[in-house]
Amino acid sequence: MALLIKTDIDRGNAWTEALAAAYPELTTHTWPYDGDPAAIDYALVWQPPEGELKRYPNLKAIFSVGAGIDHLASDPDLPEGVPVVRMVEPGLTAGMSEYVTLAVLSHHRFLHDYAVQRRDKLWKEIPQIAAAARQVGMLGLGVLGRDALEKLAPFGFKLAGWSRTPKSITGISCYHGEEGLREFLAGTDILVCLLPLTPATEGILCRETFDQLPRGAAVISVGRGGHLVEEDLLAALDSGRLSGATLDVFREEPLPKSHPFWDHPRIFMTPHVASMTIPESACQAVVANIHRLEAGEPLRHVVDMARGY
Ligand code: NAP
Ligand code: GLV
Repeated sequence: MALLIKTDIDRGNAWTEALAAAYPELTTHTWPYDGDPAAIDYALVWQPPEGELKRYPNLKAIFSVGAGIDHLASDPDLPEGVPVVRMVEPGLTAGMSEYVTLAVLSHHRFLHDYAVQRRDKLWKEIPQIAAAARQVGMLGLGVLGRDALEKLAPFGFKLAGWSRTPKSITGISCYHGEEGLREFLAGTDILVCLLPLTPATEGILCRETFDQLPRGAAVISVGRGGHLVEEDLLAALDSGRLSGATLDVFREEPLPKSHPFWDHPRIFMTPHVASMTIPESACQAVVANIHRLEAGEPLRHVVDMARGY
């Protein structure tokens, strides 16, 4: 049985070694692959070139290296009928919760304002606000959004989440659908986006959304760059409607050097690193799924491609 690996950043042999340790009988090949395409049973990929996966006639499953599968959904030649599995693994989840916690606390404790003050050599205390007086609102109550909210719970924030379907989660005020969005936004002081990028969520971080948040709210965008209407964010920050933003994902990555975000004093940015799949823990999830499929059992975390996540 053979698996083709095409990953994102260079991790040396980490994936090959982790998979060899977890499943010694599995042969792994690293992309680019010039062997017989018919010999490949599984693909573990991040941003494969369009049409690449169609070259392998015997693929049984496509594993996304990341939680998001928009890099596969955008391929017009994605082989039909081959299940796409999104990444759900403890390393990726833990990393995202760390990042979201860091970003929420930095807005809560005015680190963005103090960075501006520092630039101006201004020594000025801003009165602290109790965590219990602030609501953290999560767009997306999936694997990552829910874990991040649960990790924030001990700080005492009011927690809220918005999803497509109704949910009931202890300690989290849950809203869903178009009809739940207005009330969710109206109470949210720190808005986090952990939605998948789909036609329904594209551009959700826009003026209309910002205008429904309390004045001075903060936005943390960690889902995908396509969620954010960039000019609306700049206008909302410049007018004071929003107090600050933490951005990890962008419409164009790498962000062009001429982009106004680089120099904006109220934007904190990172280069799409909020969370990364860790080969050592992720390979366990991939291998467990291969064993399931080979045993005739259903795969876990299969994407509904019609729904887009
Ligand atoms: P997930 O488990 O599939 O959860 C997605 C959540 O979004 C679900 O709660 C879903 O609602 C909700 N949702 C989807 N479409 C919606 C809509 N139209 N209206 C309202 N809610 C909607 O996904 P995940 O594993 O948490 O990952 C979320 C995203 O994070 C990924 O798709 C990826 O883009 C991003 N990500 C970014 C990084 C980074 O480093 N920046 C790292 C990992 C992941 P239901 O529960 O009702 O289905
Ligand atoms: C990273 O962006 C992921 O989708 O895992």
